[in-house]
Amino acid sequence: MQSVINKKLIELRRKIEEYDYHYYVLDDPIVADPEYDRLFKQLKELETQHPELITPDSPTQRVGGAPLKEFAQVQHTIPMLSIDNAFTEDDVNAFDQRIHDRLHTTAEIDYCCEPKMDGLAVSLRYENGILVRASTRGDGSTGEDITANAKTIHAIPLHLRGEHLPKVLEVRGEVFMSKKGFERLNKEAAKKGEKIFANPRNAAAGSLRQLDSRITASRPLSFYCYGIGDIFTHNMPKTQGDLLEWLNEFGLPVSSLIKVVHGYEGCMAYYKEIGAEREKLPFEIDGVVYKVNSFADQKKLGFVSRAPRWAIAHKFPAEEAQTVIEAVEFQVGRTGALTPVARLKPVHVSGVTVSNATLHNMDEINRKDIHIGDTVIIRRAGDVIPEVVKVVPGKRHHDVKKIHLPKNC
Ligand code: IVH
Repeated sequence: MQSVINKKLIELRRKIEEYDYHYYVLDDPIVADPEYDRLFKQLKELETQHPELITPDSPTQRVGGAPLKEFAQVQHTIPMLSIDNAFTEDDVNAFDQRIHDRLHTTAEIDYCCEPKMDGLAVSLRYENGILVRASTRGDGSTGEDITANAKTIHAIPLHLRGEHLPKVLEVRGEVFMSKKGFERLNKEAAKKGEKIFANPRNAAAGSLRQLDSRITASRPLSFYCYGIGDIFTHNMPKTQGDLLEWLNEFGLPVSSLIKVVHGYEGCMAYYKEIGAEREKLPFEIDGVVYKVNSFADQKKLGFVSRAPRWAIAHKFPAEEAQTVIEAVEFQVGRTGALTPVARLKPVHVSGVTVSNATLHNMDEINRKDIHIGDTVIIRRAGDVIPEVVKVVPGKRHHDVKKIHLPKNC
């Protein structure tokens, strides 16, 4: 009897994992939600009847558990580094030149180009294919143990797929929140009168660093990997591009925007291509990353202080800036609706000077506690109207003025 039930459990888990893999890793769903939910419910019920047969990597274990008192510390065996930034084409050209000089070559360098995800870095440790620990970057040497939280993220496999799995594989990547997920979360929070997040990055960070993993489970987090830490295997790929493909074959999600290009010119073309798509992407990126593709060359180049010499982040113009609200005026729409507009001390953001930003409506003003004279964060994404995101805490003067609806036209 037991073995019949176990067979059924294994079968259900296998199906659900396959559906998750298609949805989260291949970005190509093969089942409708009701069917998925039906199987999930079936698995859940069967496990409730036979709790002794629950495995730690069962899909049902993604719901989160009892809250922790505090996060345990994790020592990273291989430090989690940062990357130097480039803001101009000249910066990238100089980077490419330094690589040539250090490698004593005039031949074009191959670069692996990747989106720079705007989330937070995590390290996932798989032993014999099983996820045993997840940690945050922390200061690069010591991070926090967020295993329970990471397990609630469907894009993070609880065990790897395939054969010839490495004995140890530490996967490094970015946990992030999609733009849609962020908007949905903030809308719900606003309805309940809860704290709203300034941007998807903050929302992702706030969601992942929860002592109560059931809260993390309720948040729309996702994950892409871009590298490794500790590894023990016999068939290590030789380039960054191959590494990412290899990781993908283990069922780990890798961005489909990654591309290996030739030389500085290839990097520039990539930057422009991704820059043009930036607004349409379902998640936020703050730039692209160029990595010397050959691991042999990476080794020759080494590191300087906390960053590798073989990688650079080419940043996009920032979409957020800080300024002061000098006045608030009300615009009357076609339907007679009043829209409050903040007159700002002009500020440069994503390539243009902004002097007006929408405050949406009185509810938003009250919820964000915005006053005239406040120092605020404004945001301008693409061609949409700039908006006031939030008040910068601790910068309020005593002479700020409350915003009132006009009494007459
Ligand atoms: S590689 C040795 N690749 O950016 C280099 N980082 O500024 C280690 N990030 O802490 C990082 N996308 O949180 C790398 N494709 C990408 C990335 C990426 C986003 C983040 C990551 C890292 C920070 C460094």
